[in-house]
Amino acid sequence: MQLGVCYYPEHWPAHQWESDARRMAELGIARVRIAEFAWSRMEPEPGRYEWAWLDDAIATLARHGLKIVLGTPTASPPKWLVDQHPEILPVMRDGTVMQFGSRRHYDISSPVYREHCARIVGEMVRRYGRHPAVVAWQTDNELGCHNTVPAYTQAALQRFRRWLADRYDTIGALNAAWGNVFWSMEYRHFDEIGLPQCTPTDLNPSHVLDFRRFQSDEVASFHALQAELIRAHAPGRDLLHNFMGFFTAFDHYAFARHGLDVAAWDSYPVPRTEVLPLGEADKHRWARTGHPDVSAFSHDLYRGIGNGRMWVMEQQAGPVNWAPWNPVPQPGVVRLWTWEAFAHGAELVSYFRWRQCPYAQEQMHSGLHAPDDTLSQGGREVAQVGEELRALGTARYATQHASVALLFDYEADWVVSAQPHGADFDYQHHVFEWYSALRSLGLDVDIVSAHADVAGYRLVVAPTLPILPDSVIAQIERGASHWIFGPRTGSKTSSFAITPELPPGKLQRVLPVRIAEVESLRPSIRPAIRFEGAEGHALRWRDRAQPGAGTDVLARFDDGVPALLRHGRVSLVTACFDEAMLRAIVAHCVRDAGIEAILLPEGLRLRTRGPLRFAINYSDEPHAVPAPHGARFVLGGPRVEPVGVAAWIEDD
Ligand code: GAL
Repeated sequence: MQLGVCYYPEHWPAHQWESDARRMAELGIARVRIAEFAWSRMEPEPGRYEWAWLDDAIATLARHGLKIVLGTPTASPPKWLVDQHPEILPVMRDGTVMQFGSRRHYDISSPVYREHCARIVGEMVRRYGRHPAVVAWQTDNELGCHNTVPAYTQAALQRFRRWLADRYDTIGALNAAWGNVFWSMEYRHFDEIGLPQCTPTDLNPSHVLDFRRFQSDEVASFHALQAELIRAHAPGRDLLHNFMGFFTAFDHYAFARHGLDVAAWDSYPVPRTEVLPLGEADKHRWARTGHPDVSAFSHDLYRGIGNGRMWVMEQQAGPVNWAPWNPVPQPGVVRLWTWEAFAHGAELVSYFRWRQCPYAQEQMHSGLHAPDDTLSQGGREVAQVGEELRALGTARYATQHASVALLFDYEADWVVSAQPHGADFDYQHHVFEWYSALRSLGLDVDIVSAHADVAGYRLVVAPTLPILPDSVIAQIERGASHWIFGPRTGSKTSSFAITPELPPGKLQRVLPVRIAEVESLRPSIRPAIRFEGAEGHALRWRDRAQPGAGTDVLARFDDGVPALLRHGRVSLVTACFDEAMLRAIVAHCVRDAGIEAILLPEGLRLRTRGPLRFAINYSDEPHAVPAPHGARFVLGGPRVEPVGVAAWIEDD
């Protein structure tokens, strides 16, 4: 468990670097990420490279024992490159060409841009690939950020047509798969196909889904180009990318297969809570701490994407600049976020940024220091974590398998967004609600791909899976896990048509149920339900299920529509619910699977890492932690303070 920081030596006079490096080490920082936006300083003129400043910066940091994570600078191409090749600029869905003057002003599909990326990354890795202080490489920065994926350029169009030709072989096959006879949308050649941009009414969802798949492949191949160079010239170094929270523009599982040692991600709990589609009461309640499950969700997701290896590359350390409102975080919460990340398996928590920059776009974004170099509240909390880590020692705490797996599927997000059918059905929010219900029952959750091997999990939870992989059915048939599926499961074929046997499609083989009708619900229509002493409502969506032979209906709405059905080890939840009802239903299924659940008070969460058990308290009340008598506390004690953390070892 190590601390890190994001640092921009090019923003500060060189004489300041030495004291910065010394104070980083004193604060307990071990790793420093640099250089990811510095292309104009690395190559101020076409083909003229200037490395002396970067050599110096690396040497200065290394002198203080700091290890470097080097970022490739391809998220911010310099002005001369854009002027030479204006065709690399990104185009938005409405056709607007984005101009130079901020960052991410490039098209991932542009062959010219890809060549320039290979050139600058090649120069960098040949120079620093074997440098002893450079221990890790980050490709680009937050690929897809600022809505730059999907991209609607001429280069994307050409490559999309080729991608389609590879997938379908003949135009007839594409027309049939997409159902293009509808509204005379048939094509005669692949060269007639356009990008799914602006049309008078809905686009064909099959066209949109294939475009999303194609764009996802484009992001992965853009990363792969750099990954191959890094692998070739920086042997033994960790290769990573810094992903974003709640971001589905590309399939991160597929991306990881193109070369990734660590899934790093950027954690901004307060603004993330502000921009998620949560209700106003939740946004208000958690405005200064972030929602108690927002960071945890991404930790658990990225730990899976990194095949067990996860870093927080950028951790919010104070107020930021980019949400509609940017409050000052609650004192203590930077420390809480850090320990929470470690509890969820992070190997590194690296703060954004060392010092607030007084100029340009992010001048209102705080860091560990104010622009005048005084330590911020966040900085003081980091100093405390540094001390606590020293006291904990250097033992390695491996993260173990949880008993619950939650299936996350990027394609499911693309399907739902291409055809929401109800204005407020958002895939990630839907999955998040289920995750939150599980976490509020005191459970550790592993978030895994819908194609993952889930043998060994007691319970597998799929909040929705419109395109149901065959491997899921096969695993249900031969495995011993309990499974819960949510609404819309098995509703679409892989080319985005209604499944021939009707939803839940192939799931009918293991759960005889037929969904004859579905309905989305405006916010004022909330079908009532009572279940195991709880009273609640459906929200947003109901599948109207007809149970087949051997399927039990365990809960019904007041109007008689089935809400929870079960056949053997497989359960189907037919609607979205308010928080309390969803928790009651999920708790029932958890107990059914033989897993012990603890109903936690609001804002309290638990998490296990190796022998360490953590209690993380987001609430403003102190809480007793469920530690057994004789537990040895390594952080805090049996009562966890508001916005505090406790950790203990149960049997030493
Ligand atoms: C991240 C980005 C950083 C910085 C930060 C501000 O999305 O990677 O470069 O902009 O946000 O919160």
